[in-house]
Amino acid sequence: MKNGDQKDRSLYMRVLENMEEAVVAIDDTERIVLFNPAAQICTGYSDRQALQRPLEDLFGTSADFLRLVRTALQTGRSITSHEDILLHRSSAPPLPVGLSASPLFNRKGDQEGAVIILRDHSQIRELEETVRQADRLAMLGTLAAGLAHEIKNPLGGIKGAAQLLNLELPPDNPMREYTQVMTREVNRVNDLIEELLDLTRPRPKQLSEVNLSRILADQVLMQKQSHPDKEISYQLQLDPSIPPIRGDENLLSRMFLNLLKNAAEAIAGEGNITVTSRIAGQYLYNKPGERPVPMVTVEIQDNGPGIPAEELDRIFTPFFTTKNRGCGLGLAICQKIINEHQGSLRVSSQHQQGTTFTISLPLKRT
Ligand SMILES: Nc1ncnc2c1ncn2[C@@H]1O[C@H](COP(=O)(O)OP(=O)(O)OP(=O)(O)O)[C@@H](O)[C@H]1O
Ligand SMILES: [Mg+2]
Repeated sequence: MKNGDQKDRSLYMRVLENMEEAVVAIDDTERIVLFNPAAQICTGYSDRQALQRPLEDLFGTSADFLRLVRTALQTGRSITSHEDILLHRSSAPPLPVGLSASPLFNRKGDQEGAVIILRDHSQIRELEETVRQADRLAMLGTLAAGLAHEIKNPLGGIKGAAQLLNLELPPDNPMREYTQVMTREVNRVNDLIEELLDLTRPRPKQLSEVNLSRILADQVLMQKQSHPDKEISYQLQLDPSIPPIRGDENLLSRMFLNLLKNAAEAIAGEGNITVTSRIAGQYLYNKPGERPVPMVTVEIQDNGPGIPAEELDRIFTPFFTTKNRGCGLGLAICQKIINEHQGSLRVSSQHQQGTTFTISLPLKRT
């Protein structure tokens, strides 16, 4: 009988150890008595750091989490959150999780604590965001095609008329300045429409073997010359062992250019931009039926003013800009390019410390 008990116990332990869900059990004084490996991954605390500690010590800043667990403890009923709960962590960004908390009873039927199950929802939320972004782009595509058609012809007319007027005016006539402004601004609207069409038009990729280090170095070189009025120091820390990746060289160059341009534009006067690349063996891209592929990570980091937290969600939305002469299309274009390469683009930013854009691309060589 005892032997059977032990077998059961080791089976339960294995189940707990192999579960994808984080399982945390607490006693009736809210001390942690069980912390499975998924809980360690999800919260960033080791079982040594967690076991026997009061729940509040570890999760005191996650108010909703504590509230639900305490309700389960006090009412003796199971509770499941229907909305994501934000789990605040000490060394990583907050994690959206689904949570169930159930009272734990001993054999006599007395309540002796609670068991909490957490499911990491971050990947689902990321996927949802990708779908939303794709929907937005599709809508914008229809709008852009219609607009482009309606606007480009009259624009051509205005530009032609401005040029004719320019020819009619004597060279020293001050009115010439106005005709030049007209031509310049018409060109700007034209560029904007082209960008918008580019963003929304389906276009086949031109795939080749791309040397990431080379295109990064090229784009940095070009960017260096674009801001002669600022003192920007560029640091390149490129891993020379990264093999060529399969991708569209023009599109990838454009993406890095947009990100480097944003970094340089964010810096007022003086600052640093660091470009790092490395093979991130731990990040695998999973596609059904395909072998997981290692990812290459490129980071573009600036020490500009950073992006306020309330704007972080909006910067990838087409036309969102905080610049006087920005279109707000740069990052939307980057997002589209990265999606077409089955990669990911993330941003992290600290007020007054700077911004880091992290690009991950699958290291595909076929
Ligand atoms: N490195 C950065 N530092 C601070 N803010 C940034 C950075 N990168 C992007 N942003 C913010 O995100 C906004 C959107 O960027 P995006 O590149 O899409 O458009 P834009 O630069 O304003 O215009 P465009 O790229 O079309 O010329 C910017 O206006 C800026 O507020
Ligand atoms: Mg930009």
